[in-house]
Amino acid sequence: MATFLLPFTLSLLTTLSLTSPATGTTPKTSNPNPIKLGTEKLSHFQFYWNDIQSGPNPTSISIVKPPPTTTSATGFGTVNMIDNPLTDKPDNNSQILGRAQGFYGLSSQEEIGLLMAMNFVFTTGRYNGSTLTVLGRNAVLQKVREMPVIGGTGLFRFARGYVQASTYTLNMQTRDAIVKYNVYVLHY
Ligand SMILES: *[C@@H]1O[C@H](CO)[C@@H](O)[C@H](O)[C@H]1NC(C)=O
Ligand SMILES: *[C@@H]1O[C@H](CO)[C@@H](O)[C@H](O)[C@H]1NC(C)=O
Repeated sequence: MATFLLPFTLSLLTTLSLTSPATGTTPKTSNPNPIKLGTEKLSHFQFYWNDIQSGPNPTSISIVKPPPTTTSATGFGTVNMIDNPLTDKPDNNSQILGRAQGFYGLSSQEEIGLLMAMNFVFTTGRYNGSTLTVLGRNAVLQKVREMPVIGGTGLFRFARGYVQASTYTLNMQTRDAIVKYNVYVLHY
């Protein structure tokens, strides 16, 4: 009987504690272990982002094509989903530090400009399991493109910062690209 009642009691308590009275007072927090933040530091990372569209194992695939009635020179409307390896060196066989998972869409009618939304998922060393989230605009034909880092998890909790992306190689036939990323991030 008690085991039946327990979940009900818990959910009742949760409901009660979340409901603030009409007077507008904020709900009380009862966290016995408030987060202790260390000193905020600036970290700088450099790696290569490998966008592989060709071959039997592409890591970047087009998932949305613009309707055939539109003919845009800038590919406006195309969306790619990515699970791109992040490597130590500009070589797809060098050490993989993590992956860039997310998507980019061609969102400019005037130039080749991407909206990028991706998570860097680190899989090696100290940052194994931690992630950084990048959301920004990438005008790919410019030499250096800057995009915001809007957050992170694990060792990157409370992260903020920016990345600078510059194309290392772009194969116009296969559309495979290697892009150098410099990441500057404040975190604790
Ligand atoms: C890896 O790089 C080599 C040499 O640049 C290239 O020939 C090969 O196609 C690349 N592999 C993938 C999956 O992109
Ligand atoms: C990264 O973490 C995962 C999960 O904890 C673990 O299985 C893996 O071996 C770790 N990789 C490295 C290179 O430390």
